[in-house]
Amino acid sequence: MNEMDTQWFKKAKHFFTSPQNFGVTFDDVSLATLYSDILPAETNLETKLSEELSLNIPIISSDMDTITESEMAIQMALLGGMGIIHYNMPEREQIKEVARVKNNVHGLIQDPIKVYPDWLIGDVLELLDKKNYQFRSFPVVDNNNKLLGLLSGRVVKERYRNKTVSKAMTPRSQVFTILESNLGNDPIESADQFFNQHLGINKLLVVNQEDCLKGLFTLSDIEQIMQEHKAHFKPARDSDFRLRCAAAISVIRKKDGSIDSKRILDQVGNLSNEGVDAIAISTAHGFSKGVGETVALIRSSFRELNLIAGNVTSADGVSFLAEAGANAIKVGQGPGSICTTRQVAGVGIPQLTALYASSIAAKNKGVRIIADGGLAKSGDLVKALTLADCTLCGSLLAGCREAPGAIIEIEGKSYKQYRGMGSLAAMSAGSAARYGHNANNKNRKVAAEGIEALKEISGSVDEVIRNLCAGIQAGMGYLGASDLQELKEKAHYIRVSPASQKESAPHDVIQIKSND
Ligand code: XMP
Repeated sequence: MNEMDTQWFKKAKHFFTSPQNFGVTFDDVSLATLYSDILPAETNLETKLSEELSLNIPIISSDMDTITESEMAIQMALLGGMGIIHYNMPEREQIKEVARVKNNVHGLIQDPIKVYPDWLIGDVLELLDKKNYQFRSFPVVDNNNKLLGLLSGRVVKERYRNKTVSKAMTPRSQVFTILESNLGNDPIESADQFFNQHLGINKLLVVNQEDCLKGLFTLSDIEQIMQEHKAHFKPARDSDFRLRCAAAISVIRKKDGSIDSKRILDQVGNLSNEGVDAIAISTAHGFSKGVGETVALIRSSFRELNLIAGNVTSADGVSFLAEAGANAIKVGQGPGSICTTRQVAGVGIPQLTALYASSIAAKNKGVRIIADGGLAKSGDLVKALTLADCTLCGSLLAGCREAPGAIIEIEGKSYKQYRGMGSLAAMSAGSAARYGHNANNKNRKVAAEGIEALKEISGSVDEVIRNLCAGIQAGMGYLGASDLQELKEKAHYIRVSPASQKESAPHDVIQIKSND
């Protein structure tokens, strides 16, 4: 770099340690552009949260009760990231939520609508009418779910109303099937190969050894998925081709305040049996005795399990959790859009400075860090990824259809509820332990550290994540970084003035269309 440039644009170790650059966050800095021979589309967004746990994009959805349940986690994993299922629900329910993600085979309709041989076509028409199903073919099964044939959509017509399904169906001998055990490691690939080899066939039924129906592939679904795989990031899957999914737990305590080791280990064991890819010990203050003991407890019983822990904002905090046994550490105290920790408790470190301090300890300890909170636009994710291995989003995903919670209409506009896990409402639903409060002690007054808010509806997770990834890739293109490691190595920062912050957003025009 030219001497002139080095005076202004500093590498992390010079920029963040300079006394005049007191604690900074995303909007306080900008990244210097560098010579590039990399186009955004050529950049690689893969990252790792441990040696074994890799993701195809560096984005995780937050373990909040208004952000991540199975619907969000499935979508996040399909896009190459991961969701962390929150813990504001009964333990049994959380296990089911993880199972829903791990058992989801995108493209395989696991419970297709079935019809029975003694039904009339009129019965099928009524079912279609009642359920608003689209015109399609139906597997025909007996009462034991044994496959008898396929009822083509072509015969589900008014004129055949009085014919029985058994008369109208294509018999079993002419229906194409594949054994569940032959689907292999990549069921989508197997189905794609089948449709390539069988021209004109657009349904493939999956059966078990007893010839019972286990699912259905349609040509149009498979074609769409193959198209998406070519054009975008691959889903994040484990070695058994199941979607990745994490689950959060808190420091569960007994009535007397001591850690409830049995309950914690039972829950982790059950989640682990469902194939959970990581357990996140999620609290507001990770640099604390209870969190350290909980991480160590889980690590001593589950040596191979990926552990995420947090939250911390210092090098000491990262070292502490790394020594306790965490593989990846969440960094962030108070930057979140719904957080009031800094106002209520007067603590927290501006997020970029926190990430810098944490990144140094993470490198020394051989662990990864996750930037959690305060990410409001894709440029923030680029800046975070110059220091962290992954980002964790709440507010950016809160308006998505896949986030839990009802849609609320106010004066013609649609919103979703979004609340801090430290808001009084969320704490009374279960998250009090996250903020160090003993849920068993109902008499003690606790200070809320989060607010209840609304987020304008923002379409699907798919659109939001693709936009964020496109932004990250644009940033990498400007820095000439082909992957996230190079982004870290190449980043140079400059502190910006309030006037420059204003200059960085659209200004002096009347905006008529946003890009969201
Ligand atoms: P964003 O900015 O993505 O932040 O909405 C989400 C992150 O904020 C944290 N979180 C809280 N922090 N009080 C806090 O101080 C709260 O009530 C609260 N709820 C969530 C959490 O780390 C989340 O991922």
